[in-house]
Amino acid sequence: MNLTLSNPTAPAPDSADGGTWLACIDCEWTGPPFDEIRYRCPDCDGLLEVRYADLPTFDDFAKSEGRGVWRYADALPVESGVSIDEGDTPLYEVPTIEDEVGVSALRVKHEGMNPTGSFKDRGMTVGVKVAEKIGTDRLACASTGNTSAALACYGTRAGTEVLVLLPAGKVAAGKVAQASLHGARILEVDGNFDDCLDIVSELANRGEAYLLNSLNPFRLEGQKTIGLEIVEQFRDQTGDLPDRIVLPVGNAGNTSALFKAFRELVAAGELTPEEVPILTGVQAEGAAPMVEAVETDADFVRRWDEVETIATAIRIGNPVNAPKALPAIRETGGTAIAVTDEEITDAQRALAGDGIGVEPASAASVAGLRKLRESGEISADENVVCLTTGHLLKDPDAAANAGVEPEPVPADTDEVLEHLSK
Ligand code: F0G
Repeated sequence: MNLTLSNPTAPAPDSADGGTWLACIDCEWTGPPFDEIRYRCPDCDGLLEVRYADLPTFDDFAKSEGRGVWRYADALPVESGVSIDEGDTPLYEVPTIEDEVGVSALRVKHEGMNPTGSFKDRGMTVGVKVAEKIGTDRLACASTGNTSAALACYGTRAGTEVLVLLPAGKVAAGKVAQASLHGARILEVDGNFDDCLDIVSELANRGEAYLLNSLNPFRLEGQKTIGLEIVEQFRDQTGDLPDRIVLPVGNAGNTSALFKAFRELVAAGELTPEEVPILTGVQAEGAAPMVEAVETDADFVRRWDEVETIATAIRIGNPVNAPKALPAIRETGGTAIAVTDEEITDAQRALAGDGIGVEPASAASVAGLRKLRESGEISADENVVCLTTGHLLKDPDAAANAGVEPEPVPADTDEVLEHLSK
């Protein structure tokens, strides 16, 4: 395996602050992490990532007094966060699905068990803290729902105004309810997620708000902890490492964050390059620009203007983190695959059958695993982790449509028994 994307052990530039700095992934630019607000490279417009002079080991994490995401504070750009106990989510066994697909070991990392019900909390606990440090009076994001719920929650916790832009009519009910109750100002845009992100990025560039989409490199640092937890939990449960992680892809933030977690573990001497899990992305057929790029071996991702899927969380046509995520998939020997809405719903039912309630986008990971096992791309001797990114209650309508129909009965025991005997 050849992990070439960037060198996480490059020497600290003069602009480093406490051993932390920002670097462009495409050119030589480096800069201070907190003195100026930057989302992209000032020289070439490339994506930025956070770099560290010192990379921690698992022994360092074991000595940590923090919990959840903050157990990994040594790997993060700030020592503590605006926190409501995010992270430390379960790594579940799924015996029925494991038997059905036939792999050596299958686990489900259920990020729906975070405080607001999705992995976004991991990014927000870090990102909102950095926003506080930088000093901003308004936080903003575009969202298919979960980012807005998490930002509304963490923003109000930090006492900061929150503005969210949502694609009108395309956000699941639970997510809008969360953003609303946590008091965010919600703008319903007559357009899709990518339009919302264009607008909010422009607002941020004009200094109207601090942007907390996954373009923000600090947010991805928090999401890195998913990868660190997976390695530790998988090893505790099986004595082994996962060979592959299968995950849903929207903006490809998690794909990028997991790869960064593993590259840093390699640089710290904790994993060999060969031990880095193979990153395998899954998109919905109606919103699959990353899959198209992987399948055609393209070096950029073509924006899809028309996108549609039942998995509204990943109804995205322009994955902003593609320049980080394409190398993540290619350099780990992974792939990307598209699944139909029907396959997503089937996988959602299968997970529910093993007691794990997820929203449709999350089930895409299991749908992808099933398909790649059938095609032989994933072999029977692999240890696999599927990432489920959001909780069932996020999208109650999709759950009810996928589940069994309630049966109306009269309020009478004999009639209930009569009904049950039919
Ligand atoms: N799964 C869920 C449940 C999500 O909410 C998202 C993204 C993804 C997967 C895709 O993750 O972007 O890291 O590839 N949701 C964003 C939002 C876009 O606004 O809530 P990714």
